[in-house]
Amino acid sequence: MMISLDNQTDPELFLTSHNESVYRMTGRRPLALIHSFGCQQNVSDGERLMGRLAKVGYGFTKDPEEASLIIYNTCAVRENAEDRVYGNLGDLKALKERKPELVIGICGCMAQQKHVADKIKGSYRQVDLVFGTFAYNELYRLLYEVIANKKRVFEQSEKPTDIDEEFVQLRENKFQAFVPIMYGCNNFCTYCIVPYVRGRERSRVPGSVISEVRQLVSEGYKEITLLGQNVNSYSYGFPQLLRDINAIEGDFRIRFMSSHPKDASDELLDTILGCEKVCKSLHLPLQAGSDRILKAMNRSYDTEKYLKIVDYIRRRAPEFSLTTDIIVGFPGETYEEFCMTKDIIRQVKYDNIYSFVYSRRSGTPAAKLEDSISDKQKGLWLRELLLEQRNTSSEWLQRFVGKTARVLAEGEGRTGAGYLTGKNDEGIIVEFEGDISLKGQFVNVNITKAMNWALMGEIADK
Ligand code: 5AD
Ligand code: SF4
Repeated sequence: MMISLDNQTDPELFLTSHNESVYRMTGRRPLALIHSFGCQQNVSDGERLMGRLAKVGYGFTKDPEEASLIIYNTCAVRENAEDRVYGNLGDLKALKERKPELVIGICGCMAQQKHVADKIKGSYRQVDLVFGTFAYNELYRLLYEVIANKKRVFEQSEKPTDIDEEFVQLRENKFQAFVPIMYGCNNFCTYCIVPYVRGRERSRVPGSVISEVRQLVSEGYKEITLLGQNVNSYSYGFPQLLRDINAIEGDFRIRFMSSHPKDASDELLDTILGCEKVCKSLHLPLQAGSDRILKAMNRSYDTEKYLKIVDYIRRRAPEFSLTTDIIVGFPGETYEEFCMTKDIIRQVKYDNIYSFVYSRRSGTPAAKLEDSISDKQKGLWLRELLLEQRNTSSEWLQRFVGKTARVLAEGEGRTGAGYLTGKNDEGIIVEFEGDISLKGQFVNVNITKAMNWALMGEIADK
């Protein structure tokens, strides 16, 4: 099965003919397992990698035993995400011993860091390939080095890369699509590793985003989620992009993630409220409720500015849904300061919060700060926060009871056999009795009950 080729060979051609010869000899295409950890941006990057692999003849599997290529697309935002990846890599050691021709790689935010690459080089000999977020466009060359030249390859350099607008994203979901509009982050919040592992902000050109969305809608996609670390600093103007996408004909809805409060302008809020396809929900990471902590985090807004945004929206759309991210136990945060976060949660009334205990990320400014509260204590604060949120949100969810919601049916529900789950325009989970054939369609549902995690309802008569 080995093909000998010289170094001049085009990597894409090499991989294509290598995979074809596997197919000829075994009757099966070689299979790749791509597993993405972390945020939606990562899931989207994973779909792009799959698009590239499909182009050179790989099929896909979720079973490591069947795979001839395994790539973990990793997240570095918190330590426990990194620990999971090390654990999974450790588990692959025995498989690699049994199948030495298996290629194992890791990529993404964790793999961009030099200290991670060094650790893998020394202690995880089963890994053949470690490449960071700047090297996706070079996937063929990197795989060529591993497969044809039998090298272990480590690629962590941070280089200016053009956005490849021609990329093919291989989407498993046929009615909900992630569409990246920008990469990187310029904000340097003091706790966050993202600007170091994803580099400076780069925006895709609007024409290319718009034609991608138009194509997806014509294929029947019903929900388009625009992605960026901070979509509000999309360099060609985010409100205009929303208006242009809203003007595309078809029955679909638009979501986006994430928005930084420091530049959530009135124009953006008016655009969200005025565009009928844009969902009436906003993920607006607060991070902390104390102005002193926000300053130490380098968030560039205070609670007054944050609450003004909330007030502006809720005056015009009282049922508007807000969700947020919270970090508990930033270095130096006192219990009193933590309680200010709870106060804001009570005041704003979020439909959901994503809350995390602060995780020290080496290389970030906050990593050098003194931190006297134990993780155990912070864990207790986190529980307190979640309790506060549950009490607030179960009451707040009642606003939908007795009304009709437009729900995009996503699949079988948690409630039991015969139930479907989906989300309303505000992004809240709705469960209702219905046939699985409705999956991927908008359904009108009369909301009968609010639980603390979801709304329950019945399909409205057509
Ligand atoms: N520790 C804990 N949470 C973090 N986040 C980012 N960096 C850290 C960290 N070092 C959280 C923030 C961000 C979300 C994506 O992850 O709340 O909004
Ligand atoms: Fe990290 Fe702040 Fe950038 Fe978000 S805005 S990715 S929290 S640095």
